[in-house]
Amino acid sequence: MHRLIIFFLLLQVFDFCNGGVTSTYIRKSEASIDIPIEYLPPPPGYNSPEQVHITQGDHIGRSVIVSWVTPLESQSNYVTFWAEGAKHHHKHKAHAKTTSYKYYNYTSGYIHHAIIKRLKYNVTYIYQLGEHNSTRTFSFTTPPKVGPDVPYIFGIIGDLGQTFDSNQTLEHYLSNPKGQAMLVVGDLSYADHYPFHDNVRWDTFGRFIEKSAAYQPWITAAGNHELDFAPEIGENTPFKPYTHRYHVPYKASQSTSPLWYSIKRASTYIIVLSSYSAYGKYTPQYSWLEEEFPKVNRTETPWLIVLLHSPWYNSNNYHYMEGESMRVMFESWFVQNKVDMVFAGHVHSYERSERVSNVMYNITNGQSTPIEDPSAPIYITIGDGGNIEGIANNFTEPQPSYSAYREASFGHAVLEIKNRTHAYYTWHRNQDSERVAADSLWIYNRHWYPKKESSSMA
Ligand SMILES: *[C@@H]1O[C@H](CO)[C@@H](O)[C@H](O)[C@H]1NC(C)=O
Ligand SMILES: *[C@@H]1O[C@H](CO)[C@@H](O)[C@H](O)[C@H]1NC(C)=O
Ligand SMILES: *[C@@H]1O[C@H](CO)[C@@H](O)[C@H](O)[C@H]1NC(C)=O
Ligand SMILES: *[C@@H]1O[C@H](CO)[C@@H](O)[C@H](O)[C@H]1NC(C)=O
Ligand SMILES: *[C@@H]1O[C@H](CO)[C@@H](O)[C@H](O)[C@H]1NC(C)=O
Ligand SMILES: *[C@@H]1O[C@H](CO)[C@@H](O)[C@H](O)[C@H]1NC(C)=O
Ligand SMILES: *[C@@H]1O[C@H](CO)[C@@H](O)[C@H](O)[C@H]1NC(C)=O
Ligand SMILES: *[C@@H]1O[C@H](CO)[C@@H](O)[C@H](O)[C@H]1NC(C)=O
Ligand SMILES: [Fe+2]
Repeated sequence: MHRLIIFFLLLQVFDFCNGGVTSTYIRKSEASIDIPIEYLPPPPGYNSPEQVHITQGDHIGRSVIVSWVTPLESQSNYVTFWAEGAKHHHKHKAHAKTTSYKYYNYTSGYIHHAIIKRLKYNVTYIYQLGEHNSTRTFSFTTPPKVGPDVPYIFGIIGDLGQTFDSNQTLEHYLSNPKGQAMLVVGDLSYADHYPFHDNVRWDTFGRFIEKSAAYQPWITAAGNHELDFAPEIGENTPFKPYTHRYHVPYKASQSTSPLWYSIKRASTYIIVLSSYSAYGKYTPQYSWLEEEFPKVNRTETPWLIVLLHSPWYNSNNYHYMEGESMRVMFESWFVQNKVDMVFAGHVHSYERSERVSNVMYNITNGQSTPIEDPSAPIYITIGDGGNIEGIANNFTEPQPSYSAYREASFGHAVLEIKNRTHAYYTWHRNQDSERVAADSLWIYNRHWYPKKESSSMA
């Protein structure tokens, strides 16, 4: 009897209607133009530290990696820090490892990465870089101790680039004072849009994001625009600029590559994957992920979130099905392990999926249609940061049943984790004020409260 009812409900949801909502919001279409280099100048002062950004430095949130560039001298390569409100004699120092790289005819400045360890949880620290009259001061707040009911608020951004639209997206996020850490689903600078991948655009990107990334951790995944693979100009090492500039704590999760890793932060377990590294059976990424899922303890971290670049469920004609091979490899693990949400970018639009899976198919059985699955993640495509390539406004018609909401506008999202069962998720298009959510949803934790969510939209 119950099965019959469920069967009819499924029929209603998946057969009688063509999926969810395609927003009727009409976005003013204007080209996305990169901010001119002279609008993103280095800070004043001799050898002044620039492009300051931070990320989590260990597995549990008690370390921070501080990264910055000095253009002319490898000095000063240390960070001075102290807890807010502490007396001056409580100042500490952490030394950086300094690197630099060449890319075609570009030579980077001195890139410093300092790991500050053994910080206290949930404390604001002030930190200083540079010397004499080039000293610059910033701050960050460590997350609360990892635990099941710790509230925490993430911003989510993808395919940001450095256009005037990118600036609008970032300013929009910053106008909400509640965001505590940024989840970044890849495609950062778009330097590769320029002849010879002009890496000066990696520098200007670093200066552009400093207003956010110097003050709260950016948890980054790599996208295709991080590859910078250009054998025609002798650049054969994929991810060279990205891996020199953006460090992550990959060794803390027993990863062998900075392109995939995990962290715990407050009540979340975040797994970062690489769509552009091998993930077939027996590869390092595959083996790592296979070992990783059993380590997730939902009693400690109820929320399980995955970041990757190329979306698995995307009903836009741009990059259609590019994520399919990775979905085939990993989707059954995501369902078995009840991943709550997967954030991807790549497609320069916004889309949210229903909880669906497509893991039945075995080549001969014909069961290759996604079905509603309460153990499946919600897939969010949020490649709408506003980069130079512009908006992806060509959706497949009719809207497939797996697609709950889609809109071709630039924007960002906010995920407010309340406790082990509830999180409130909102997506904000750039044209609205921060208080307005164009798409919003109460998300229920798949381990603790696997109830069906009900969509709501404005
Ligand atoms: C690099 O080479 C390009 C093309 O030859 C040239 O336009 C550019 O000015 C060069 N840049 C540097 C830093 O030498
Ligand atoms: C900053 O310091 C440098 C070297 O110590 C000095 O040459 C320069 O005049 C100073 N500039 C200002 C504005 O004080
Ligand atoms: C973190 O500290 C703030 C005050 O600085 C406090 O209000 C908050 O409850 C703390 N959070 C946790 C989870 O301890
Ligand atoms: C970014 O936007 C802010 C707020 O509108 C503005 O003050 C700032 O000048 C912009 N930055 C650039 C580089 O255009
Ligand atoms: C999971 O985490 C809880 C809370 O921290 C702890 O009590 C429990 O022992 C952990 N379980 C495993 C299998 O490690
Ligand atoms: C695929 O599914 C069909 C129908 O359930 C079954 O007969 C067949 O043995 C399966 N093939 C494989 C390779 O598992
Ligand atoms: C949208 O994508 C489809 C499929 O790739 C293509 O045939 C069509 O021309 C595209 N429409 C526009 C307006 O670009
Ligand atoms: C979890 O948060 C939700 C939303 O704020 C609230 O309705 C619910 O009562 C909370 N659960 C517990 C156990 O506190
Ligand atoms: Fe991309």
